[in-house]
Amino acid sequence: MKFTARKLYYAMPPAWRFAVRRLYYLPLDTWEAVTGQRGGLAPPRGLIYTGGGDFKQSGERTLANFKEFCNLKPSHHVLDVGSGIGRIALPLTQFLDKKNGSYEGFDVVKKGVDWCTQNIAAHHLNFRFRYISLDNDLYRTNGDSAARFRFPYDSDRFDLAIVNSVFTHMLPEEVGNYLGEIHRVMRPGGVCYATFFLFDEKTAWPEGFDFPFDHGHYRLMDDAVKSANVTFEENWLRGLAGQHGLGIRHLFPGSWRGLPKSECKDFQDILVFEKY
Ligand SMILES: C[S@@+](CC[C@H](N)C(=O)[O-])C[C@H]1O[C@@H](n2cnc3c(N)ncnc32)[C@H](O)[C@@H]1O
Repeated sequence: MKFTARKLYYAMPPAWRFAVRRLYYLPLDTWEAVTGQRGGLAPPRGLIYTGGGDFKQSGERTLANFKEFCNLKPSHHVLDVGSGIGRIALPLTQFLDKKNGSYEGFDVVKKGVDWCTQNIAAHHLNFRFRYISLDNDLYRTNGDSAARFRFPYDSDRFDLAIVNSVFTHMLPEEVGNYLGEIHRVMRPGGVCYATFFLFDEKTAWPEGFDFPFDHGHYRLMDDAVKSANVTFEENWLRGLAGQHGLGIRHLFPGSWRGLPKSECKDFQDILVFEKY
């Protein structure tokens, strides 16, 4: 999306953005439904409110990253923070063991949680999705503060916590609370796969994807819709993770920085944290 189109998109209230997307894709979604061309359990394009790119391919690529960098096993218990419309859950249904493995996801957008519950959890009994009413000015208009939210799970429960393309839409105090909660709910030795936009003093902001609103240790793409896209200063984030008992096992820079795609594991920067 070009900068001007993105600006226009952000200027709309969240409900309008959902409606515009639904309408824009209605002809193609209808065609794919009638001809049976939509693959497997994939949602209609008009419901994929979680970003562009190939939905299926990016879910599969992310699963490959979990296996390679997080040592994910079929018997693991997985938490997906900001589960969206099932991009990460769908490939996991083919990997996690039905008896020994499990998946829990939560999100602040009810439409996404409802779709996942009806289309994924209904067929995979070890998968569960929860709707939580939290504030996020990109995705909704009100809700409780994510900076004070306690995750609805027991401590020391999960082997892997996933936060894919979610901290890029959250503010510093919220990220701090979530890192603390992730540390609490992960078992000792558990890992967290999270993506970010990170900057330091050498960052050359890519054209059309810069963050002009400078707040010191974080920068915003849009001051009117603060959660639209957020970047954090790398050293600040490392310190924050350390304060919450999380060490960094891997950092893979993303292609958003202008690096060749062939050299990157994803568009966003990937951090793999471990609980110590
Ligand atoms: C770009 S989408 C990514 C969704 C999913 N993780 C994926 O990779 O497809 C960002 C998601 O984060 C969710 N979100 C935003 N704020 C959140 C919060 N405080 N807690 C949980 N989810 C949140 C949004 O509703 C949205 O589904």
